[in-house]
Amino acid sequence: MIGDATLYRNIGQLLTMNPLAQNQKDAFAMIPRAFLIVDQGRVASIGSAHEEPSRWTGPVVDCGGCLISPGLVDAHTHLLYSGHRADEVAMRAKGKTYLEILNAGGGILSTVQKTRQASDEELTYLLQQRLACALQHGSTTVEVKTGYDLTVSGEYRMLQLLRSVQNTAPTRLVSTCLAAHAVPEEYRGQSAEYLAWLAQELLPKIGDLADFVDIFCEPGVFSVEESRSYLTAAQALGFKVKLHVDELADGHGAQLAAWLGAVSADHCAMTGQAGISAMAQAGTTAVLLPGTAGYLHHGGMPPARSMIEANLSVAIGSDGNPGSSPTEALSMLMPWAASWLNLLPEEVWAGVTIMGARALALDDRGALVPGKLADFVIWDTDDYCYPCYHYGVNLVKEVYVGGQRAM
Ligand code: NIG
Ligand code: FE
Repeated sequence: MIGDATLYRNIGQLLTMNPLAQNQKDAFAMIPRAFLIVDQGRVASIGSAHEEPSRWTGPVVDCGGCLISPGLVDAHTHLLYSGHRADEVAMRAKGKTYLEILNAGGGILSTVQKTRQASDEELTYLLQQRLACALQHGSTTVEVKTGYDLTVSGEYRMLQLLRSVQNTAPTRLVSTCLAAHAVPEEYRGQSAEYLAWLAQELLPKIGDLADFVDIFCEPGVFSVEESRSYLTAAQALGFKVKLHVDELADGHGAQLAAWLGAVSADHCAMTGQAGISAMAQAGTTAVLLPGTAGYLHHGGMPPARSMIEANLSVAIGSDGNPGSSPTEALSMLMPWAASWLNLLPEEVWAGVTIMGARALALDDRGALVPGKLADFVIWDTDDYCYPCYHYGVNLVKEVYVGGQRAM
């Protein structure tokens, strides 16, 4: 018998997932009518109800026949910012594109203005609120990028804020330096000079404040060659890298991600077959953000099916940010991931759990098998297909982080 372990019984379906999966096709695993034992924050044991320990004297939670899944791992957000951009709804309706708004000083740059002016206290409060919202919708790990200051000292401040929230937030937080999110007004027309400044003054100072370094590699923002030299400098300092690529056009960013051996290439809405093959060879995980592609409605949806056929690991993220995907709730996007990307419910679940963890180079979560973190969600359904079907409503009943009830 195990110390102070808790038995979760009467689970309708337990999504354990398969942490050893090579790819999406074999990543899904489920036990119908199951039990789960949690000890000291980790999964101690799982199995079918008929194998359940018969003389259990420790605490018991009756799960009422509900679905239990691993806590969702949202591998791509930009939730550290001040202000909002509700005015852009009308601009887009009148035909302005995302890059036109950005290049006119709006978009990311308008959020930069508001974020630079915000105090540490305000930004901390806003991020904590957003992470609490993410948790209520089932996300137990959330990656958060900087990128709304775009100065050396300000981006450093954002990384420090992420670290301080990391120590207090109910979710587990992964921190990414995205100082290369856009070219700030002060460097208009001088993208290479801006990156050189960051590489010289910011990257060497970050230390362990960031888990990853990222860049918005996109025609019209940072070119493939600029991105290559910036991220090579980050790698030389020991950082793992990820990239925003091919969001609005196929700029061959996926090939660069593969060439760099990036942990993930994100967006990939317009990535072509050559990019997919390169990523497959390099073992780069694709992080697809259907909410953004749908919200901006620019006509491109990531080629998820071709990626899965090519044996890529495919994560699904929210991209939560004030411009292209204003949400904290990855679970709300699951029906759209299924519908718009033509994914099976099994593939969507892999994308928001085990593959999300893979996109963050974390192998201790995203699955509920012995030894993994006991981060899990009890859903208000007994059918794992249901959260990929019923949209716009929060179906999360309870959330546990490290075996502790967090919601
Ligand atoms: O991933 N593409 C760049 N960055 C974000 C959008 C950020 C914003 O619009 O504020 C994205 O979509
Ligand atoms: Fe993004």
